[in-house]
Amino acid sequence: VAPGALAGKHIIVTSGPTHEPIDPVRYIANRSSGAQGTAIAAALRDLGAKISFVTGPASVAPPDGVDVIAVETAQQMRDAVEAALPADAAVMAAAVADWQVKNASGSKIKKDGSGTFPALDFTENPDILAWVSKLMNGRPELVVGFAAETDDVIAHATAKRLRKGCDWIVANDVSPETGIMGGAENTVTLITEDGAEDWPRMGKDEVARRLAQRMADALG
Ligand code: C5P
Repeated sequence: VAPGALAGKHIIVTSGPTHEPIDPVRYIANRSSGAQGTAIAAALRDLGAKISFVTGPASVAPPDGVDVIAVETAQQMRDAVEAALPADAAVMAAAVADWQVKNASGSKIKKDGSGTFPALDFTENPDILAWVSKLMNGRPELVVGFAAETDDVIAHATAKRLRKGCDWIVANDVSPETGIMGGAENTVTLITEDGAEDWPRMGKDEVARRLAQRMADALG
């Protein structure tokens, strides 16, 4: 694929974790450095795409040459994705928190020494990938999701692809012994309607370049 293969295309990439406040100083979050999403945005940019990079509070810096939309919560990420539409493709690489704290406090919860502890009530966050995948109007032509699994990776990711309604799933095994979380390398399986394709272990930058090229081929 020649550079410029994605010229004229607009692609939304979500990346990083979301933070769901408990009170003004505390939050719950998923583990995510944002490394893979950042690499994907850079690789798509390198092929000439215009990138809306919707990122939660990641530990790696966003790439140059993309539109950075910084958000904190899943709800803000959903709204930012909606505002960035329409797009030719969307890659949802963010590790979105599944729940938000329903009874989040507007002021810092105090340790009152009573021996009773605050109880958190949760409510479900919007599933951004499923929502974009099922848009009746203005669905991106190609929607790519991720599946971070610790067991039965292909079976779970294949089911997830159907459940979410996305076109492709990039599945990876994030068991602690793989060192993938926060590491520089990744071992992924690309799940499409044609089946599962195992990619060898490679750097996250190389995973991103390969994925970007596949996307360019698919978007023609
Ligand atoms: O259901 P699960 O979190 O395993 O799905 C992972 C995929 O769905 C990722 O692509 C992630 O970015 C996306 N996702 C999302 N919004 C959520 C939860 C997950 O976009 N609330």
